[in-house]
Amino acid sequence: MLTVHRAAVRGTAARWYEADVIEAWAPHALQAARIEELSRRIESGEERAVVARDASGAIIGFGSIAPDARELRAVYVAPDHGRAGVGGAILRELEVQARRHGLVELAMDASLNAEAFYRRHGFASVGRGEHVLRGGQRMACIRMHKLLE
Ligand SMILES: CC(C)(COP(=O)(O)OP(=O)(O)OC[C@H]1O[C@@H](n2cnc3c(N)ncnc32)[C@H](O)[C@@H]1OP(=O)(O)O)[C@@H](O)C(=O)NCCC(=O)NCCS
Repeated sequence: MLTVHRAAVRGTAARWYEADVIEAWAPHALQAARIEELSRRIESGEERAVVARDASGAIIGFGSIAPDARELRAVYVAPDHGRAGVGGAILRELEVQARRHGLVELAMDASLNAEAFYRRHGFASVGRGEHVLRGGQRMACIRMHKLLE
């Protein structure tokens, strides 16, 4: 999942942000601490993740929700599988899971490059904001939300 995350950020989002933001968002070197942190969030139930795989079983995209926070955390798709409906399929499944958790809406901080994608899928933009990455780096974002049917 973090390999796809790095490829998506560096391949698709990179031209929207300064290099220091990209490095903080998706470090060039995959760090064991990040892998453990992601595992912890998924195993504890803080995040529920959905992955998309190709025919060989390799992960080509993923996304997650944080049910208690009523948040869509993000969707990431490997650039060589972009614009093929993978992100949309992941998002639809995350919305199914959110409804199963009793959520009636999802909020999120969208990266600037992804606003059109989330709008296409029914999210509305609330305004521009600043998202604080886990390491403390700030990045411009669009605050978005969607009422679930
Ligand atoms: C955003 C992202 C997940 C979209 O995944 P995807 O699999 O390419 O999206 P889909 O193919 O399902 O796109 C569905 C529709 O969303 C819209 N869309 C997707 N990417 C878009 C873009 N870069 N610009 C404009 N519209 C876009 C289009 O309407 C698209 O339909 P179309 O291809 O028929 O025009 C992917 O580009 C990505 O991983 N980006 C980098 C990581 C990132 O910033 N993630 C979001 C963090 S908040």
